[in-house]
Amino acid sequence: MAKVAFIGLGVMGYPMAGHLAKAGHQVQVYNRTETKARAWSQEFKGQWCATAAEAAAGCEYVFVCVGNDDDLRQVVLGEQGVAEGMSPDSILVDHTTTSADVARELSRILHSRQIAFVDAPVSGGQAGAVNGVLTVMMGGKEDVIAKVTPLMTAYARCSQRMGDVGSGQLTKMVNQICIAGVVQGLAEGLHFARQAGLDGEAVVEVIRHGAAQSWQMENRYQTMWQGQYDFGFAIDWMRKDLGIALDEARRNGSTLALTALVDQFYGDVQAMGGHRWDTSSLLARLDK
Ligand SMILES: NC(=O)c1ccc[n+]([C@@H]2O[C@H](COP(=O)([O-])OP(=O)(O)OC[C@H]3O[C@@H](n4cnc5c(N)ncnc54)[C@H](OP(=O)(O)O)[C@@H]3O)[C@@H](O)[C@H]2O)c1
Repeated sequence: MAKVAFIGLGVMGYPMAGHLAKAGHQVQVYNRTETKARAWSQEFKGQWCATAAEAAAGCEYVFVCVGNDDDLRQVVLGEQGVAEGMSPDSILVDHTTTSADVARELSRILHSRQIAFVDAPVSGGQAGAVNGVLTVMMGGKEDVIAKVTPLMTAYARCSQRMGDVGSGQLTKMVNQICIAGVVQGLAEGLHFARQAGLDGEAVVEVIRHGAAQSWQMENRYQTMWQGQYDFGFAIDWMRKDLGIALDEARRNGSTLALTALVDQFYGDVQAMGGHRWDTSSLLARLDK
């Protein structure tokens, strides 16, 4: 069992840190909003700390799951950030969805302090985190990833090294590009069903057994048909992720026409007040 720190107890981090504690690791947590850290340490066996540096002190592994590139830089390199507390030969595992650039930048900086870095974005949503069945896409050195992989079994069903630092984030971009097109297709299908006077739920009960089936269809068609979007993976996060993917595509020469279009559709849903609505709310834009 290891001594670990977990920084960022949001929708994803809170249950992930909980699984590490339940697996028997000695867990120290930090969260910017202290009340969440206090609540976590009451629910799970573990210590809350007042700063990220304090949480990271003396830990072999430090896990981070915050919002975006800037948040990550702040909790790692900022005043009383984890880099101040981490010792040489320890490992930082970042579960935030960020650009590949920031992963490489932090890896370089931490390497000069003999700290190893793994970019490890996750897929599976809140339910995946709560149920401990996330998918983790990792970038980093093989020997480092071999050390962190056993710890991740606490909250992941699948974890895989994709290449050097940055490769985990690039893989997550592929994941988000694939989701964007699938959700828009499902939204248009359900919109068409409504316009045609069909019972959308009955339609999906049939077509889900054929070639149109997808995770989005299985997990989202009922709430979409009922117009319920106040849960799940927030559009603000999805637009952050698509923005990162579109930036990377400009650099590597990919053509992401559909992704760019769906990103604009998400902008329409934000304008309807849907910043925190689930990504399946693309249907709300068509049904309005
Ligand atoms: N939610 C999902 O379904 C899902 C799925 C896959 C991947 N992700 C990715 O996982 C990451 C976290 O998502 P989430 O849904 O857990 O987000 P969230 O609920 O908004 O939590 C974000 C966490 O980061 C902390 N934080 C943000 N900015 C910070 C800063 N500058 N300094 C210190 N702490 C900061 C927040 O602290 P406070 O409590 O003080 O706000 C909170 O603990 C994101 O990159 C997201 O894209 C999310």
